[in-house]
Amino acid sequence: MFGRVKPLDAILATAEKKSLHRSLGAFQLTMLGVGAVIGTGIFVLTAEAAQKAGPGMMLSFIIAGFVCAVAALCYAEMSSMVPVSGSAYTYSYAVMGELVAWMVGWALILEYAIAAGAVSVGWSGYMIGFVQNTFHITVPLELVRGPFDGGVINLPAMLIAAIITGLLVLGTKESATVNAVLVAIKIVALSMFIALTLPVIKSGNFTPFAPLGFTGISGAAASIFFAYVGFDAVSTAAEETKDPQRNMPIGLIGSLAICTIFYMLVAGGVIGTVGAQPVYGAHGEVLSPGTSALSDACKAVNENAVVCSKEALAWTLRQVGHPFVGWLVGAAAILALPSVILMMMFGQTRVFFVMSRDGLLPEFFSKVHPKFHTPHVITIMTGVFVALFAAFFPVGLLADVSNSGTLFAFGAVSVAVMVLRRTDPNRHRPFRTPGVNIVAPISIAGCIYLFISLSKATISLFLGWGLVGLFVYYFYSRSRSHVGRGLVEVHEDDDDTPDLPVPPLPGV
Ligand code: ALA
Repeated sequence: MFGRVKPLDAILATAEKKSLHRSLGAFQLTMLGVGAVIGTGIFVLTAEAAQKAGPGMMLSFIIAGFVCAVAALCYAEMSSMVPVSGSAYTYSYAVMGELVAWMVGWALILEYAIAAGAVSVGWSGYMIGFVQNTFHITVPLELVRGPFDGGVINLPAMLIAAIITGLLVLGTKESATVNAVLVAIKIVALSMFIALTLPVIKSGNFTPFAPLGFTGISGAAASIFFAYVGFDAVSTAAEETKDPQRNMPIGLIGSLAICTIFYMLVAGGVIGTVGAQPVYGAHGEVLSPGTSALSDACKAVNENAVVCSKEALAWTLRQVGHPFVGWLVGAAAILALPSVILMMMFGQTRVFFVMSRDGLLPEFFSKVHPKFHTPHVITIMTGVFVALFAAFFPVGLLADVSNSGTLFAFGAVSVAVMVLRRTDPNRHRPFRTPGVNIVAPISIAGCIYLFISLSKATISLFLGWGLVGLFVYYFYSRSRSHVGRGLVEVHEDDDDTPDLPVPPLPGV
């Protein structure tokens, strides 16, 4: 079952031709990470975390950040050794064989496509708040929220997904300057939030600290994990990094540490000013985010709680008497979140592309448009699915399902690092995970812990998705696999894979 391995040397031959100039230092890597990570997680999911954990969500941010940090160290060893497209899918193919690789690729569909849907819904929340507060009009909820959130269809979320799909088909890439500006906008917006809220916090708002106990804190950690996803952008820059053994861990841990500090301060600002206690049902029952029951309970309190807000940070600033800065933070989210959607959808098309090139998915998936030179077929298919997820599902559920796929992939990579240390100890490793025998098991345990802390519905969806994946593998992919048919091809320069849409920062 684990016999079909894609030889590492064949994979590396693909990558060798495109050896890139090593120019990234620790600072640039850290900024790359911060830019890729900050998004819907902090701008929107803070409200969901509060509903699950109350003020204890501050601990949730630390737990999720820690698991990401250990997983990141494992990721970095693999990505520096196997610096080719397809990330976790490709590493698994080389180390644990085709079936595991297929399951990881299948899980990455959840990670990327569903995450793109989640960020689209997050964007929609800020867009609607912005329109309502700028033009003082009331937008009909039926058209801007999905059925679980008290609406019918989320049209703005569909619209942004469609626009990003169009841009990707045309081959749009963010210029380095646009990317740097977006990083700055996000950092300035969060800094303003912290500067205006921290001085007016009331310590009484921190009690009860954990109204739903440690289970609530774990559940919130599993959801808020989403806020850290994207740091793999740093690991995948391994080939372009100067002295990766030194700079890679600084970049990874540095960007995660900066985000964790920002996130905790922002969470502290929300809790300390407007309070972050969960909203309960009429009979005191605990309500999950993204359910009609919570949406009804929120109507009963006139949406007057941060856990009810779809634009938690802008809402908090309005409550504490800074409507203009709230408006600015909303504008920042509206400008910056689309680039996260772009990265996620791009990641999805790249994984599909590589899986199709390996014969595991139909060949027409990797068709490249004659004029735009982009994989238009798979981009449009991805776009349709992302738009449908975004139209009908709440942001929290989408983020949780995406997390389940990401945790599976991170767990698999952490196993792969340990396996490869034993099976191929002498291979050159530009970056070695420090203390791998401790770090990798902690990473695996952390991924399992967060996974089982997800809601039952999420875990069931993940398992259902896995079963469908096994079915597709055994009835379609297995017999068509190029490795299975003995066709191990080397792609001379990987040129047929589109480049990353977001280049490193200027001056990098
Ligand atoms: N970390 C990214 C976000 O929070 C995915 O939007």
